[in-house]
Amino acid sequence: MKQIALTGIKPTGILHIGNYFGAIKPALALTGNYDARYFIADYHALNTIKDPKELSALIRQVAAGWLAAGLDPDQVIFYRQSSVPETLELCTQLMAFTTKGLMNRAHAYKAAVQANTERGEDPDAGINMGLYTYPVLMAADIMLFDSDVVPVGQDQVQHIEMAQDIAQAVNYNYRQEVLKVPQALVQKSVAVVPGLDGRKMSKSYGNTIPLFAPEKELRKLIMRIVTNSQAVEEPKDPEGSQIFLLYKLFAAAEEQTALAARYRGGGMGWGEAKEELFRVVNRELSPMRERFEALITNPGALDDILKRGAEKARVIARATVGRFRAAAGIDS
Ligand code: TRP
Repeated sequence: MKQIALTGIKPTGILHIGNYFGAIKPALALTGNYDARYFIADYHALNTIKDPKELSALIRQVAAGWLAAGLDPDQVIFYRQSSVPETLELCTQLMAFTTKGLMNRAHAYKAAVQANTERGEDPDAGINMGLYTYPVLMAADIMLFDSDVVPVGQDQVQHIEMAQDIAQAVNYNYRQEVLKVPQALVQKSVAVVPGLDGRKMSKSYGNTIPLFAPEKELRKLIMRIVTNSQAVEEPKDPEGSQIFLLYKLFAAAEEQTALAARYRGGGMGWGEAKEELFRVVNRELSPMRERFEALITNPGALDDILKRGAEKARVIARATVGRFRAAAGIDS
């Protein structure tokens, strides 16, 4: 039997090329080797996004984006967290086994407190209980589906450790394996994608290239990538250029070798290097953009996919909360 892998996707921003190489591609690569489950973590997003139009649009765009990028809903389970209300029941069940001290130690909460303190504000200013108890909801997401592994970046490892603590507290109390204790699958070698200004591509730096930007906008953004002032005729170092680093993510090995030689040989200006980059980026993204447009303009089809996913998910979810209830003496 394959191990179960579960990935949560927080719909808090429109998808960009950094998300694609840093999160989407590596997560989708697990399909096949694992019994894979992917979900849109909309209740996690609610902690920060309070505008209903914005949240609803982001949920749809992110769901359509993962499907357009190759997520196959027939091969995996793909659902919205909010469509599986058992998540919230398990969350409540876990609350009774989660110490307040554990939550006090969470990095995200501590960072928020520190930022408040530095600004001279009340330590808990602007911190809602959703943020404070975020690790419990995440533990529920994970344990609800008997996940063996959770592929995450380094920043999420503490959350998995907390989920382990909570699961062990439950299992120890009832002297049986009520919940599976999950393991983090840390993906170290994922690509760091340079943004328009050369720093890591990130929403918070405002230097992103949206994954589904229309062709014209995509071209415009690529033309805006910051370069040094080397003249056309000067030989250029491909590895020192973020245009080339981006090119490498999209081009075949032979294309990379050929273009690197042109950089080194001189006679190619940054404008031309950007044209080459646009060509390979658009080549990979245009079929995805078409699939994305088809899903976003057909909300019924998208809803159907998510609804079927939720139905599959709830079968597993009901079993888990039932196991907990039985162990705890709360019979239905
Ligand atoms: N906390 C994760 C993030 O910020 C998203 C997430 C929510 C998640 N629940 C999860 C990831 C469960 C893995 C498993 O990216």
